[in-house]
Amino acid sequence: MYQYTDFDRQFVHNRAAQYRDQLERNLAGTLSDDEFKPLRLQNGWYVQRYAPMLRVAVPYGELASRQLRALATIARQYDQPSAQVYQTAQSTQAQFGTLNMPTGYGHFTTRQNVQYNWIPLDKSADVMDLLASVDMHGIQTSGNCIRNITSDERAGIAADELVDPRPFAEIMRQWSTLHPEFAFLPRKFKIAISGALEDRAATRWHDVGLHVLRNADNEIGFKVWVGGGMGRTPVIASVIRDFLPWNQILNYLEAIVRVYNRWGRRDNMYKARIKILVKAEGQRFIDEVEVEYQQIMTVDGAPHTIPEAELIRISASFAPPVLADFAPAASQKEAASLSAADPTEYAHWLQQNVAAHKNPALRAVTLSFKRLGQAPGDATADQLDTAAELADRFSAGEVRVTHDQNLLLPWVRAEQLPELWQAARQAGFARANIRLLTDMIACPGGDFCALANARSIPIAEAITERYQDMDELHDLGEIDLHISGCINSCGHHHSGHIGILGVDKDGREWYQVSLGGSDGSTLSGTPMAGKVVGPSFVATEVPDVIEAVLDTYRRERLTGEAFIDTFRRIGMDTFKQAANSVRHPVEPELV
Ligand code: HEM
Ligand code: SF4
Repeated sequence: MYQYTDFDRQFVHNRAAQYRDQLERNLAGTLSDDEFKPLRLQNGWYVQRYAPMLRVAVPYGELASRQLRALATIARQYDQPSAQVYQTAQSTQAQFGTLNMPTGYGHFTTRQNVQYNWIPLDKSADVMDLLASVDMHGIQTSGNCIRNITSDERAGIAADELVDPRPFAEIMRQWSTLHPEFAFLPRKFKIAISGALEDRAATRWHDVGLHVLRNADNEIGFKVWVGGGMGRTPVIASVIRDFLPWNQILNYLEAIVRVYNRWGRRDNMYKARIKILVKAEGQRFIDEVEVEYQQIMTVDGAPHTIPEAELIRISASFAPPVLADFAPAASQKEAASLSAADPTEYAHWLQQNVAAHKNPALRAVTLSFKRLGQAPGDATADQLDTAAELADRFSAGEVRVTHDQNLLLPWVRAEQLPELWQAARQAGFARANIRLLTDMIACPGGDFCALANARSIPIAEAITERYQDMDELHDLGEIDLHISGCINSCGHHHSGHIGILGVDKDGREWYQVSLGGSDGSTLSGTPMAGKVVGPSFVATEVPDVIEAVLDTYRRERLTGEAFIDTFRRIGMDTFKQAANSVRHPVEPELV
């Protein structure tokens, strides 16, 4: 993992101290709410439906166990609203049918960050201090800047990796943090980087997607994609460079972001993302970037060329851990329960949750945070602590946050798998549902988010409840189900094989269902936006619609054919018919 230098440490401590001063002035009334707003946002503090929402940056998804424990402490001690705030939230949400509003947890997001929904603002400076004490912060998690850079959760360990993207991600993090020219872009700017054959970071759905690879001469460089994004207008990024030498990546990114900064639609928030500019200007955008790049390279003297020594210095942080010291033998209790365990359950877990590793003696193991009774990606304080313990025992003290809102242990010895399975099972993290239907992505939706049209969490819960049978889940095979509470698309509904989008009609919650989307991973193939099956459904119809779609798949599939392949083979019509046959009698209030 990247090791903070004294400079880095000083920087985040100074930022926390600055934030404390700003908060205190705001609470004392000498800094107005309007003046305070951009300052808190620059540290990840939003104000949502009932309470502030904090987004903590986890650069390219890497977390040490001590950081996970600090996140647990924040969940336990600070993710607790006052009685008054909680009562207001509860009674308001009860009108919409929300039964239970949990507190005291963190939420893993698709861009590898962690969010909290209940921290009182007057405690926020204490939280920033706690984060700084473990080299963490909320910088670049909000605002129209270059956001926290995401990567493949298996970066540096994947068996299909060509080049480890993490040193580049870290260099880009340092370049983009507080970049003076890019603090007020037309809109947020998201970069994802991967160095593997399989795209596990949805790179082509980003403003800039980077694939680091080797050319025929074995030189390292980047394939650069630009202009991807979801929201109201889903766009897959286009290739702007097939091969850029690695040491020029910052100069090139600088050219892209400059052109965007100059021409992005500041006049219209809904058209302000780079995807709109790229789509509207096409070749003209590419030409402008090229002119800007040449200017940077020749006239400006290529100021951001990465020196080889710097790449070596940063790469040293990412040397694999020494594994000898963290493999204690299985306890007697665990060994006994292992022999009594269900072999099918274990086999399913090996198949879904355990992945190959660059080092043949090791495995990458995903801990599932998708289960009945908790929103996808939510983790209580105790669960965060337990994950930290598992990381210490089995994974050199390191975890990764995954794009699908789970945690991954990157350094597990193959011979420890049975023991880890047992421990993960006891902790409730061993459901063998990774990449299956219930390993769904969902945003916080109307339970927490002020922008929502509809709730996401109860929909996720209803589908999870219906598909509890593991044999059935395994029979259905790998399916990406993605749920967003509004068109901002935080839950990536466009790229789901099955997508669900909350829409507002007459002040009531409705849901559009789409099929055939893809994030661009190996299973999904080329990235693609799904197509809507027809008019939207009421909440109670949604699980029936999903069932109708899945039954159609079971009926139509060829032996061994995955859902998405059946969909592509037979097309939308049969599925559409099945989905639209689910229309409950109109509810009395709607007549
Ligand atoms: C309640 C808290 C949240 C708020 C207020 C919020 C707000 C927004 C907004 C307004 C956008 C659209 C920006 C634009 O297109 O210009 C957006 C995009 C996005 N959000 Fe959130 N979000 C929240 C939570 C989350 C969570 C929990 C996740 C992950 C599960 C997430 C992931 C994303 C992603 C990936 C995008 C980019 C979609 C794209 O490609 O256009 N957000 N968010
Ligand atoms: S998709 Fe909409 S409802 Fe969901 S978190 Fe984003 S802004 Fe909120």
